[in-house]
Amino acid sequence: VAVEVVPETGSTNADLMERAAALDAPLLLVAEHQTAGRGRAGRSWLSAPGDSLTFSLAWKFDAPLQQLAGMPLAVGVALADALAACGVQVQLKWPNDVLKDGSKLAGVLIETQSGAGGIWAVIGIGMNLRMPDEMEARIGRTVAAAPWLAQMDRDQLMATLLDSLAAALAEFSRSGFGAFSARWNRLHAWQGRTVAVLDRGATLYEGLAAGVDDSGRLLLDCAEGRMTVLAGDVSLRTR
Ligand code: ATP
Ligand code: BTN
Repeated sequence: VAVEVVPETGSTNADLMERAAALDAPLLLVAEHQTAGRGRAGRSWLSAPGDSLTFSLAWKFDAPLQQLAGMPLAVGVALADALAACGVQVQLKWPNDVLKDGSKLAGVLIETQSGAGGIWAVIGIGMNLRMPDEMEARIGRTVAAAPWLAQMDRDQLMATLLDSLAAALAEFSRSGFGAFSARWNRLHAWQGRTVAVLDRGATLYEGLAAGVDDSGRLLLDCAEGRMTVLAGDVSLRTR
C-alpha cells in the first residue's frame, strides 16, 4: 500500500474522497495534524498534533455492497489485534468505536466514493495517544488515550496498524463479516448490558446487547423479543 504523509490538512477522509475516483491502487494518507476532522453523523473529530493518529485508507471495495455495514466492525477487529500486539487491550463498541477502560480511544468513519474502477471505501481512523485536559473539556466527555503508544516509534505503530488493516480488509472482501463475527463478539464491550439505541438523541430501542450476527447487525433482546439493528447513524448508550 502506498503511503503519503502530510504535515497538515483539514480532513484525510475529505482528501481521499476527492481523490478516490482517480486512484488505481490503495492509498494510505496520514496527517500529522487535522484542522477539520470529521466524525460520524456530522460531528467533528478533535486532535492535537503529536498527541494522536489521524489517517485514512482508500481501499477498493470489491465485495457485494450489502456487506458494507460490516466493514467498520471488521476494521475494529483489525485495530484491536494491532493494538494487542502493541500491548494495549481494547474492547469494541458497536458499530464503530474502540474503547479502552470504557471510554473512546479510537473512532472509525467509513465513506464511499464511486470511481472508474468501482466503489472505493475511505476508511478514516482517529486514535487518541495522549489527551490534553483542555481538549477533553472541548469534546465534553471522558475519552481514552494510550500514552504507551505515544512513546512508540510512530512509523512502527502505523506499519503495525496498516498491516493488520490490509490483512483484515482482504479477508473481508473474500469472506465477508462472517469471518469476523466471533472475534468481534469476544471483544464486545457491552455484551449482556442494557443499552439504548439512539437516533439524534431519541431512544429507538432498549434491550440487552447480545452481540452481532454474521452481517454485523447488533442483536438486542428487548421486551418484545429479539431485534436486529442495522448500523446507520445511530448511537448506543449503556443504561
Ligand atoms: P458514536 O456513535 O460515533 O460512538 P457517540 O455519540 O456514541 O458516537 P461517544 O464516544 O459517546 O460517541 O462520544 C464522543 C463524541 O466526541 C463523539 O461525537 C465523537 O465523535 C466526539 N469526539 C471528537 N473528538 C474526539 C476524540 N479525539 N476522542 C473521542 N471522541 C471525540
Ligand atoms: C467517529 O468516531 O465519529 C469517527 C471519527 C473518525 C476520525 C478520523 S481522523 C482521520 C479521518 N479523517 C477524518 O476527518 N475523520 C477520520
